[in-house]
Amino acid sequence: MFFSATVLAAALVAPSFVSAAPLQRRSSIKMSSASVNLDTAVGAVYFITNEGDINTILAANINSDGTLVLDRAITTGGSGAHGLEDLEAPDPLFSQASIKASAEGEVLAAVNAGSNSITLFAIDPADPTNLQQIGNPASSEGEFPVSLAFNSKGDTLCVLNSGTVNGVNCFDVDKVAGLTGIPNSLRSLGLNQTNPATGLENTASQVLFSEDDTQLLVSVKGDAQNPGFIAVFDVQADGSLSDDFKQIPAPQGGALPFSMTLIPGTTAVVVPDPQIGFDIIDFVANTTTAVKIDGQKTTGWSSFSVKTGDFFLTDLDTSTITEVNVDENLKATIVNQFEQGAGTTTMDNDIATVGDTDFLYVLAPNATVIDIFEIIAAGKLQSVATLDLAGPAQDAGITLNAFNIQGLTTFVPVDANAQKVNSNVNTKL
Ligand SMILES: *[C@@H]1O[C@H](CO)[C@@H](O)[C@H](O)[C@H]1NC(C)=O
Ligand SMILES: *[C@@H]1O[C@H](CO)[C@@H](O)[C@H](O)[C@H]1NC(C)=O
Ligand SMILES: *[C@@H]1O[C@H](CO)[C@@H](O)[C@H](O)[C@H]1NC(C)=O
Repeated sequence: MFFSATVLAAALVAPSFVSAAPLQRRSSIKMSSASVNLDTAVGAVYFITNEGDINTILAANINSDGTLVLDRAITTGGSGAHGLEDLEAPDPLFSQASIKASAEGEVLAAVNAGSNSITLFAIDPADPTNLQQIGNPASSEGEFPVSLAFNSKGDTLCVLNSGTVNGVNCFDVDKVAGLTGIPNSLRSLGLNQTNPATGLENTASQVLFSEDDTQLLVSVKGDAQNPGFIAVFDVQADGSLSDDFKQIPAPQGGALPFSMTLIPGTTAVVVPDPQIGFDIIDFVANTTTAVKIDGQKTTGWSSFSVKTGDFFLTDLDTSTITEVNVDENLKATIVNQFEQGAGTTTMDNDIATVGDTDFLYVLAPNATVIDIFEIIAAGKLQSVATLDLAGPAQDAGITLNAFNIQGLTTFVPVDANAQKVNSNVNTKL
């Protein structure tokens, strides 16, 4: 009943090169052919190659049935990097949100961990794989940037640096001027790190705004002896940050706060923690609980499903997706677990809500695929397709290394249900 992504990928033809601004060496490569019917495209999924010479965003169209079609490769003008020490392993940045889209702002930003910069793009909501770079990459004002957060309007962007010079820094986002540093938003975390960062332990993981945009959160992994924490900065009306941060330590049993996903309507986050499973942390009340996932090894990434109200956590080493429910008293229960192929290394994930359907996208680098699921109901995840990344990248002449790829973010236009996106290739050129 669905179009297999691999069948569509087989229709790929040799790419044509489009030079948008040759003076700045920007390039966008078309990956799909005109014979691919994209009339039903409703959004896009993006991730970064994070290659050391040139970092490239791969953009795939989301069809109305959830399947993906790899459509474009867009260079960022910066370079990627791989954290220390094991270069021959996935998860190079030890982070979530190394690339992030804002549906409200219709913008996309990506980190360049090797050149300490951030690249901003405008997303065309009628053709969401069509990205236009805005300005030159902006300095992250630190080293080894690994994570990005937009505020709810998409007009402020903060970056998390995880190298020797670590901390946060925020920018005003403008569709014409690009990224302009916000005064008094460059704040240190004071971590004892290297450049590139040495992980997994003791690295910064993710930066995230609170639901009301008045606080900026940073998750920091510790180690078994020195548990990590959530750093909480106050965000002032002018966008500046408090000089110091409040520290919420990881709960007893936990130690390595990894990604953070907001629990809607609360001041709490679900925080995967490779030490135990996950933590529930209320960053205002300073109440914390660690929850064990039996048999877990490296639970690191997370997303929230509007349809079920459940959270989806991925474990790199066991290649397992764990569905978690959190009740109004912040009590968490494991709803179900879904084992993926052993050794596929399920990592970055995000959920696209299309009408009343939620699709879950999971980057599985060791298999160089994106696993695609429909979230049918609480406890019910249905596999839709598996998108091969290696074949189309090779056909288009793009370097894609399983150990370097990172990040995954979705974009669905805010008015997606009112206006059907027409992504027919013939209208783009
Ligand atoms: C920083 O970490 C290194 C390597 O673990 C250690 O040798 C050094 O003593 C640490 N420095 C401080 C100030 O803690
Ligand atoms: C939160 O509570 C812990 C002890 O449970 C304490 O060490 C820490 O300082 C508290 N943080 C804040 C911001 O109150
Ligand atoms: C990645 O795949 C290789 C070969 O298929 C396997 O030996 C290795 O254990 C996998 N890595 C992880 C972290 O699962």
